[in-house]
Amino acid sequence: MARPRPCPDRCTVLLLGGGGREHALAWKLVQSPRLERLWLTNPQNAGLSALGEPCPPEILTRGSFHFDRWCDQVGIDLVIVGPEGPLADGIADQLATDRRLVFGPSANAAQLEADKAFAKEVMRQAAVPTAEARVFERVEAAREYLEAHDEPCVIKASGLCAGKGVYVCETPAEAQEAIDQLMITRVFGDAGGRVIIEEKLIGQELSVLALVDGRTIWLLDPAQDHKQVHEGDRGPNTGGMGAYCPTPLVDHATLKVIESEIFVPIVDALRRDGIEYRGVLYAGLMLTAGGPKVLEFNCRFGDPECQPLMTRLQGDLVEIAWATAAGNLDAQTIDFDPRVSCCVVMCSEGYPGPYEKGKVITGIEAAEALGGPDESVKVFHAGTTRTSDGDLVTSGGRVLGVTALAATLAAARDLANAACAEIHFEGSFHRHDIGDRVLAATETPTNH
Ligand code: AMP
Ligand code: GLY
Repeated sequence: MARPRPCPDRCTVLLLGGGGREHALAWKLVQSPRLERLWLTNPQNAGLSALGEPCPPEILTRGSFHFDRWCDQVGIDLVIVGPEGPLADGIADQLATDRRLVFGPSANAAQLEADKAFAKEVMRQAAVPTAEARVFERVEAAREYLEAHDEPCVIKASGLCAGKGVYVCETPAEAQEAIDQLMITRVFGDAGGRVIIEEKLIGQELSVLALVDGRTIWLLDPAQDHKQVHEGDRGPNTGGMGAYCPTPLVDHATLKVIESEIFVPIVDALRRDGIEYRGVLYAGLMLTAGGPKVLEFNCRFGDPECQPLMTRLQGDLVEIAWATAAGNLDAQTIDFDPRVSCCVVMCSEGYPGPYEKGKVITGIEAAEALGGPDESVKVFHAGTTRTSDGDLVTSGGRVLGVTALAATLAAARDLANAACAEIHFEGSFHRHDIGDRVLAATETPTNH
């Protein structure tokens, strides 16, 4: 076998994507002494744009030949892909050459996220624990199935819908309504052409992300996301309202089980089908009474899980991403800061529904100045932009990821909330209870 290519001393990187996850990745990349230049596909994000150079916009629309040629012209050594869309569309297949590596899986491997029916089939072949599920392509068949099964269920569009095509249904009426929305109204377009109806699992949710280089699997510290928009886990699902890392929900032994019963069999099953997985493999898990079960796979870093992960990651992200893309992870060491990081997402009024843009944002400097001697705050931009007058304004539903590093989860959560209180824009809201579920579950009971 050819020896994996060593990471160049000076590496020119192209980063695809423009949200909070990509700001966190860019923030970590620019700390690397190996970084020569950083190119960005989405420089509208005001946090990101300060860290790199914008690609000419036409390379994204003129087809893969032009994109590839531009990468050659500016000497891109490594492409890091943030979001799932380009991966599912085959960007890794298009841009990887013998001169250039891509951090992110091929289109075939990205089906694990882009096609939930495919993911269920691979899990079945690999005997990976997951919710019992049936796939439907005909609306009548889905309705008949629901009539015969009146227990709570979860209904999902099989295709990509930016984390929103999932309905957790308590009653048969809610389930029928979800089928109508997905299969008839087609609120998510063709993504609802196939739906999955699966058993509702009960437990705490956990995000375990791993770097996979084809063979070697390196589990990152576990994180917990908070999907629902309102405090107390109420309201519709969002892309994620806040996350912290590490979580005490799983100990080392359980993580080993997650590795050997979920990650290893999935990567092996794909390889048996001729699909080599390279990049981040993210398992969304439910810790049920019967053990960890997979809710979904993603083929990228989570957003906002990436923000706490990057603030804790020690070492050089250029080297780590290179080693993953080159198939050289076994020679790499990955360490995390022992402190806890908590990211609270500040949103625009109305999110995850329609919202207004263009609200002036103030207070980020004051927020980042908070914290004691062993604490820090970093504010990652998700949906922000600069006007021609230089004002920082909102431009998305999730606007900022206010990320605090402190000795304990409670201290990190309090610091993140205090930092959010320094930041202002009209209509802003955020959850104050990121991490509370686990803090409540792990509080020592008093003996009366
Ligand atoms: P997914 O995009 O598949 O992760 O689903 C989004 C969210 O829906 C998850 O983070 C869970 O909160 C919830 N969910 C998905 N599948 C299930 C399930 N089988 N049981 C309970 N909740 C689920
Ligand atoms: N935070 C959940 C996701 O990135 O899918």
